[in-house]
Amino acid sequence: MARHLITSALPYINGVKHLGNLVGSMLPADVFARYLRSAGHEVLAICATDEHGTPAELAAAAEGMSVVDYCDRYHEVQRSLGERYLLSWDWFGRTSRQQNHEITNHLAARLKAEGFMEIRSIEQVYSVLDERFLPDRYVIGTCPNCAYERARGDQCENCGKQLDPTDLIEARSAVSGSSQLEVRESRHVFLRQAALADRIRAWVDEQRDWPQLTRSIAYKWLDEGLQDRCITRDLSWGVPVDPVEFPEVAGKVWYVWFDAPIGYIAATKEWADDDPTGGRDWQRWWRTDLGADDVRYTQFMGKDNVPFHTLSFPGTLLGSGEPWKLVDQLKSFNWLTYYGGKFSTSQGRGVFMDQALDLLPADCWRWFLMANAPESDDADFTWDLVAEAVNKDLVATLGNFLNRTATQITRHFGEVVPEGGEPGAIEAAFVARVEAGLTNYCDLMNRLEFRKATAALRATWAEGNVYLEEREPWRAIKVDRDLAAMTLRSAIGFARVVAVASAPFIPVAAGSVAAIVPDAKLEGALDPSLATTILEVAPGTRFEAPGLLFGKLEDEQLTAWAERFGGEG
Ligand code: MF3
Ligand code: ZN
Repeated sequence: MARHLITSALPYINGVKHLGNLVGSMLPADVFARYLRSAGHEVLAICATDEHGTPAELAAAAEGMSVVDYCDRYHEVQRSLGERYLLSWDWFGRTSRQQNHEITNHLAARLKAEGFMEIRSIEQVYSVLDERFLPDRYVIGTCPNCAYERARGDQCENCGKQLDPTDLIEARSAVSGSSQLEVRESRHVFLRQAALADRIRAWVDEQRDWPQLTRSIAYKWLDEGLQDRCITRDLSWGVPVDPVEFPEVAGKVWYVWFDAPIGYIAATKEWADDDPTGGRDWQRWWRTDLGADDVRYTQFMGKDNVPFHTLSFPGTLLGSGEPWKLVDQLKSFNWLTYYGGKFSTSQGRGVFMDQALDLLPADCWRWFLMANAPESDDADFTWDLVAEAVNKDLVATLGNFLNRTATQITRHFGEVVPEGGEPGAIEAAFVARVEAGLTNYCDLMNRLEFRKATAALRATWAEGNVYLEEREPWRAIKVDRDLAAMTLRSAIGFARVVAVASAPFIPVAAGSVAAIVPDAKLEGALDPSLATTILEVAPGTRFEAPGLLFGKLEDEQLTAWAERFGGEG
């Protein structure tokens, strides 16, 4: 069996992420990781905060904090939110850690040795008072297009026009406000992507499994021609270039998009370094010469991230001349919109990860988001869809089956698995339908078709209710106690199967359902043939009713939430 490496796009450090970010990378990565673990595979799931670059500096300044303190705080915020959403990372690292500094500089040195790095001079705005070069967005002034007075040197936020810092009227430094600005020459490292393009294309050509969205984005960029890119910046916050390898640019840092994806590797090394016994081997996941040749590597990301993962990062690894493990499968997502518009922090539109958990437990969000994942197209968040996912799927379909089963058992048989009766043709047909449902479900999960997989799972849940209606144990109990016992025992068996199958999406509820009978195992068991275990629950063992798993959402709640977050209820 292949070993699976799973990474999700590293969330940028600046603030709490919204539900659109969650469903576009971190959540599906977790669902897939949990699915593979339940099917018995060895899995390493890695994530980290992406901490460098100007947005981090600006966000820190806006909160009146040093960038180091800011990143410390928001790494912790994001880590604990991930935990509350049950994101089962093996490691959640930080691109600002030493491991990333080392591996980034190692790869830079390799690229230089292979002839893919070049020092070039470019003209840049220098602030005399601040004694530093200013990134484009640190230069502010009046927009020549719309006269907005706080336009940034890369773009005017008011009219949207793309700008150069020298276009601005009365340009000044965003750091100090000083207008004593000069254009000076400055030397930088350029990554010769044009020279790497043939190698990258040859590798992309080999990737037969990629979904259409991923392939078409990669070829669009390849066909337009890969440009050499400036990959150093005049900032103090970032991975400092190694002054011995690159003395011409000593004091500068690598561009955030150069070091961020390397963070996948570095976070794996953090995971290994964290083990005091030294039993974890990061290279076994990343170096095909050191054991990673049987690794299957799947990445999850929003579609804006695809060029970096199909071209730039592979280019870095291919250009190093070393045998690094490259991605096998890339799952990319479209956007989740909020009532047709963008989720927006500044306008307070949409729901953020922390707020969402005040409203509903993580399982509900996980299910709603995956059932409405923006896979083939953008998807729109509405409170009606939230209500549908919770009330119809979780409460009326899954919850109702479990409640009816538990009520009948405790009422008529107490806290033990009912004894007596023999399964018949109805049970055989039930098992066959569940097995077919699981086959469909597992197929879709293997193909990373999550939305369709939730539909297959929902249809399988519904089989439980169909079965109860067929056997009517609440009626049978009066005339044929053995039949009722056998029916409810099979229902427990089904609940157990459903718990295993549903755990990737609703791990908390699945855990309590799995606990209703003592021998329930969640890991290493997910397979369509699991359906046959429906009829294998041992009578007489202790049965523990799971309690109420999901609460119904009422209209008043939805209306209040829609009002609070903007949107119609
Ligand atoms: N921080 C980026 C974003 O939020 C994603 C970085 S993915 C990585 O869009 F590979 F570069 F780390
Ligand atoms: Zn403007």
